[in-house]
Amino acid sequence: MKRILVTGAAGFIGCNFVRHLLQKEPPVTVVSFDALTYAGSEQNLTSLNNTSRHEFIRGDICDGALVQRVLQEYQIETLIHFAAESHVDRSILGPGQFVQTNIVGTFNLLEACRAVGRQQPAVRFHHISTDEVFGSLQAQDPAFTENTPYAPSSPYSASKAASDHLVRAYAHTYGLPATLTNCSNNYGPYQFPEKLIPLIILNAMAGKPLPVYGDGLQVRDWLYVEDHCEAIWQVLQNGKLGETYNVGGENQPTNLEIVKSICTLLDELHPQSPITPHEKLITYVTDRPGHDRRYAMDITKIRRELGWRPQYTLATGLRKTVQWYLAHRDWVAAISSQGNYQQWVAQNYAQRSAPTEEKL
Ligand code: NAD
Ligand code: DAU
Repeated sequence: MKRILVTGAAGFIGCNFVRHLLQKEPPVTVVSFDALTYAGSEQNLTSLNNTSRHEFIRGDICDGALVQRVLQEYQIETLIHFAAESHVDRSILGPGQFVQTNIVGTFNLLEACRAVGRQQPAVRFHHISTDEVFGSLQAQDPAFTENTPYAPSSPYSASKAASDHLVRAYAHTYGLPATLTNCSNNYGPYQFPEKLIPLIILNAMAGKPLPVYGDGLQVRDWLYVEDHCEAIWQVLQNGKLGETYNVGGENQPTNLEIVKSICTLLDELHPQSPITPHEKLITYVTDRPGHDRRYAMDITKIRRELGWRPQYTLATGLRKTVQWYLAHRDWVAAISSQGNYQQWVAQNYAQRSAPTEEKL
């Protein structure tokens, strides 16, 4: 049975991916590894507690000795690396932690794999990255391909770009059997409420303002998280070592369109909200510094070589997501009281001038 280590497994995409993995045939065993920062929660994995093929280890990827021990003790064959600081706004207010986790942490994992590779078969390394490493597109520019030059523009995307370069360097120099995926914006169950889609759903249900940065006409490419998980699985099964695959949802909505779609869904699914129609809550606030205008992914390579394509449209994925947040109020309450989240909300939105303080 394959033995797989998943870093960042208690975060949004990581916990969805572990569930996805455990449903696959032939069965695999999974070691979930996570430091449980403000963004991670062991409760994201609790429904897997009765599976003997799953184990959780609390640990920091910056602790190279611990990572090496886990790789050896569990005879890990494949490592899938999700662990990261992932929120762009936080990287603007405090870039140091992003350099530490995303660059130094990835370096430590690579070194641990290199060290154990001297005594046991080489660990297959799959690195999870982002479309943001390619920078920002103008309205008429073609979508990012795997050959688009890197041009990251936030401390977050710069740290992810650095980690991608390290993974490629280890593959090239030391022969590490590695693959990478660069994916667009994910959404779906278990996403931490600081990100746009859950933030808008939860604020709208509570009758709070829906903060839209700048003019709201920035464009993102949105992918339902389950589709991302399957894309990673396909790369693990059939991807070529040393290669990168772009993954995306093939849609191009503006942020304002996303916010309005959520409002319309909530008008239907949650008419008892304090303020309806929910669109009345849309509030334009000061833009994110250096805000990337547009991302778009060309997914020709993964479609042609591996036969992967998204199964969810934005409409079907958003409906499922809104329904999930409506049905999981206890999860929302618990995760929102974790770490410094409430302080973070106050700090991030206080500096954005338009709305009055008591509304946020
Ligand atoms: P997340 O913030 O929800 O989860 C990150 C997880 O990593 C958390 O559980 C956290 O506790 C853990 N972690 C952080 N620092 C750690 C450390 N030092 N050691 C061990 N664990 C640590 O993030 P996410 O949205 O699930 O993103 C996962 C990965 O996917 C990231 O690498 C991110 O860059 C990438 N990605 C995310 C998106 C997206 O839209 N969310 C899109 C493309 C790529
Ligand atoms: O593109 C992939 C990336 O998508 C991932 O690599 C990141 O980890 C992930 O966080 C996400 O980054 P974004 O910055 O695109 O996601 P976020 O949800 O923070 O914002 C989405 C868009 O919505 C962005 O243009 C900023 C805007 N926004 C965000 C928030 C939180 C608002 O207008 N208002 C808000 O309150």
